[in-house]
Amino acid sequence: MLPHTDPVAHAARRARYLEALGPAAALIVAPPHHHRNADAEYRYRQASDLFYLTGWEDPEVAALFRPGSELPFILFVQPKDPEREVWTGVREGLAGARERYGADAAFPYSELGSRLGTLLQGYAGLHYRFGDDASLDESLNRAIRGHAKVAARNGCALPYSFVDPGKTLGEMRLLKEPAEVELLREAGRISAEAHVLAMGAGRPGVHEYEVEAIVDGHFRRKGGNGPGYTTIVGGGKNACILHYITNREALRDGELCLVDAGCEYRYYTADITRTWPVSGRFSGPQRDLYQVVLDSQLAAIDCARAGRAYRDMHDVAVRVLVEGMVKLGILHGSVDENIVSEAYRRYYMHGTGHWLGLDVHDAGAYWHGFASRPLEPGMVLTVEPGLYIPEGDTLAPSAFHGIGIRIEDDVLVTTGEPDVLTRDCPKTIADVEAACR
Ligand code: GLY
Ligand code: MN
Ligand code: MN
Repeated sequence: MLPHTDPVAHAARRARYLEALGPAAALIVAPPHHHRNADAEYRYRQASDLFYLTGWEDPEVAALFRPGSELPFILFVQPKDPEREVWTGVREGLAGARERYGADAAFPYSELGSRLGTLLQGYAGLHYRFGDDASLDESLNRAIRGHAKVAARNGCALPYSFVDPGKTLGEMRLLKEPAEVELLREAGRISAEAHVLAMGAGRPGVHEYEVEAIVDGHFRRKGGNGPGYTTIVGGGKNACILHYITNREALRDGELCLVDAGCEYRYYTADITRTWPVSGRFSGPQRDLYQVVLDSQLAAIDCARAGRAYRDMHDVAVRVLVEGMVKLGILHGSVDENIVSEAYRRYYMHGTGHWLGLDVHDAGAYWHGFASRPLEPGMVLTVEPGLYIPEGDTLAPSAFHGIGIRIEDDVLVTTGEPDVLTRDCPKTIADVEAACR
């Protein structure tokens, strides 16, 4: 059973990857499987790079790429072990790696260190990420040092130049294939439904964790893996804590609730934020601030076009936010002054978006040298401006204190209009109030 994988797509990616590596080899390793505590296990979620290239879902796996060789794709995996399989499930084993995952050769993961020296002969460059696993770093170092003499005698190179794999793989992952876009669209659709359910269930006295349960429960009910990152449910001032995941307090009448939650569907995650009134109706100041954030988000989404610099959407979002804050008396002085001095950062301290895909903060560079890179069709990014006015702030009018608002959608860059993958999720004031009723 290959429930979440498309062997043809993974094989095509490997072919492109081997081409992109040129004369260098690559070693892509999954991180260790951490236990939650004692004998209790987390469900293993494959590292995105490894999944992207192989579709392999189990832990203890490494993929070795050797362009131009007779064995260009080697998998090191957990071998069959009937005793262990009783506890943790059926393993694909070495034969599965070859027959079902396209490996040209497969070895037990425990042999990785002892085989590397031989397998890396002839490659002067290696794409490998140091720092993730100290013992593997050491094994690699030992393998290379241990084979130096033999390699010299054979007139073969051994890796002396190392490249972070993110450079090549990030560029590949950044441009989504049509099938990846469809998975992101489905993740977005399920997530939008979950946010609507949350809006319908939120009322004074309901706890943040109850909202979380509705959202995360919907993700699972629809066949998703669960949330792509820990669901944030912040009532009132908790919305001003950007990564608030305690989700423990009761929602209160008159306050807003910020929910940042995205379903991971077949490894691809959505990332949606909505902010809604607990009572079902925005107050005057909440409405004013919400409209500023929404205007900013709509303007920023309009920048998600091929050829525009990635950075443009942030600059546009900031300008609209600052214009709004000046109008509402939250910032003083001119719009330009507040932008130049970055005074707005007191209330808007994060970026306006990020790449989205297998990871919520997905792979790929944002800059080419010192220039913000131009957007290209096939890129997927979030657009997520917000305003956060802390309680007890000494500059903003007290009517806005303790209000945190973020609005976040997922957008595909196309050859034409921005394609909002999460458009089913209500966000105008009228639509949000209707969903809260
Ligand atoms: N949910 C994480 C983020 O918005 O970046
Ligand atoms: Mn985001
Ligand atoms: Mn988010």
